[in-house]
Amino acid sequence: MSEPLWWQRGVIYQIYPRSFGDSTGDGVGDLAGILQKLEYLDHTLPVDAIWLSPIYPSPMADFGYDVANYVDIDPLFGDLDTFDRLVEEAHRRDIRVIIDFVPNHSSDQHPWFIESRSSRHSPKRDWYVWRDPQPDGSPPNNWLAYFGGIAWEWDEATKQYYLHSFLKEQPDLNWRNPEVTAAMFDVVRFWLKRGVDGFRIDVAHAIMKDPELRDNPPNPDWRPNAQSPEHDSLLTVHSAGHPDVHGVYRDLRRLLDEYSGERPRMMVGEIHIFDWPRWAQYYGAQLDEFHLPFNFGLLDVGWEAAAIRRVVDGVEDALHTLGGWPNYVLGNHDTHRIASRIGQTEARLAMMLLLTLRGTATLYYGDELGMVDVPIPLDRVQDPFEKLTPGRGLGRDPERTPMQWDAAPNAGFCAAGVEPWLPLADSYGEINVAEELADPRSMLTLTRRLLDLRRAHPALHSGSYRPIDPAPDHCFVYLREEQGERFLVSLNFSAEEVMLPALDVPNGTIVVSTHLDRDGRADPARFTLRSHEGCVVRLEGGTGTLS
Ligand code: GLC
Repeated sequence: MSEPLWWQRGVIYQIYPRSFGDSTGDGVGDLAGILQKLEYLDHTLPVDAIWLSPIYPSPMADFGYDVANYVDIDPLFGDLDTFDRLVEEAHRRDIRVIIDFVPNHSSDQHPWFIESRSSRHSPKRDWYVWRDPQPDGSPPNNWLAYFGGIAWEWDEATKQYYLHSFLKEQPDLNWRNPEVTAAMFDVVRFWLKRGVDGFRIDVAHAIMKDPELRDNPPNPDWRPNAQSPEHDSLLTVHSAGHPDVHGVYRDLRRLLDEYSGERPRMMVGEIHIFDWPRWAQYYGAQLDEFHLPFNFGLLDVGWEAAAIRRVVDGVEDALHTLGGWPNYVLGNHDTHRIASRIGQTEARLAMMLLLTLRGTATLYYGDELGMVDVPIPLDRVQDPFEKLTPGRGLGRDPERTPMQWDAAPNAGFCAAGVEPWLPLADSYGEINVAEELADPRSMLTLTRRLLDLRRAHPALHSGSYRPIDPAPDHCFVYLREEQGERFLVSLNFSAEEVMLPALDVPNGTIVVSTHLDRDGRADPARFTLRSHEGCVVRLEGGTGTLS
């Protein structure tokens, strides 16, 4: 392949700005706090890009995903000057900056919506989705809001409903109105000119809906239970992903390309689709839409070898002819932490998987330490999802708690005596950057080893992927190869020790084991993996066959 670009060979690190570093002493993280921690991202880890969850002015009904001004910074986080300094300093360190872009909806406090709501004849009325009630007064259709309830809010003053796919404080913008498209593309230009390298596009496929707003059909697989929100009781076939969405992203891609002369820009879309061929359509038929549609396969999968392999092979197959670039994530601000979902030992294996698969890896802050979900006492709940659907485990506060830097009070996130916006994990005395840096077998040490290895060896970031068959039950074994360099990655998802079948590959050297307690020569004829162990073996010589 041609020389991989930064977003292909690199690792993206997601920062939830409220929780990374508090420089002002208000218990909420901010941009200056992130600036202070760039050294960690540059030298300790190191990563190639940061993605910042929203930092725009916002009433924070959905913690920044309700944007009241797309071209400024919320004072809670700093100001445009601090943002510019952050971009400049990140670039000086060769770290790219990706910002969240929230096109599907604004805040109800955005001047566009205030204007739109003011009258049926407002010039901005059609910037949002307004509809008359049905003859019996009920909402225009059966669409459900993601956080609960119907997706329509009645406006008594103008006697119409407006659409909100999320909170009622997040009215959906009408992307079928060219004025909206033009205004939002101007927003993108504003940030491109400020030097951002890319955009993470929030609920990307939702922006185009059925123009007739037809009812969504029931989801035959849905069973009411605590873990599954009512929203999932309908298939979102008409409320999201209308084919017209592809035209918007082709246009947006062209806009990004116009700014890619001096350095390549990129966009990565939040797209919750698990049918790989359908998901792959978001790369564009000519690879002219998203550089990366986020692949959430590893968030959704039951944690066992065969299922994980099916995800990887499904993604690889879907991208084979198209030539799209794969990508994987283990966590984000909407999903319970990997160490809580599968356990600490298993999370080490997951990290090895993430950082040795072909394609771009996105790492959620704190997962490199093995941070866990933090139980949130009732009086500290922040997330609207938890408030609207209490006690069902749907709330997202547990995975958004402050970064654990050291064992000092407040884990070095904010000054002692300040109450952080969300509580810290009880375990922060052991699970923190300072302790783990000093521990040669910590999760952080493992992550650093894997990041270094991946950066140093093209085979591990852009090399070919080939699964090895037969692998023992509960094991996933694959080969990564590029320019004569070959690595064998073997992952044992079971609690039992397993011996790999004799592989017809040359001898090699263990370069990293998830247990961090062995290295040296590996004989592929007798290679044993211990309980929940993963190993990366560098094979000798570039030739040789594999059975
Ligand atoms: C996306 C974000 C999530 C937010 C929602 C509404 O799914 O990741 O945090 O609540 O969009 O904007």
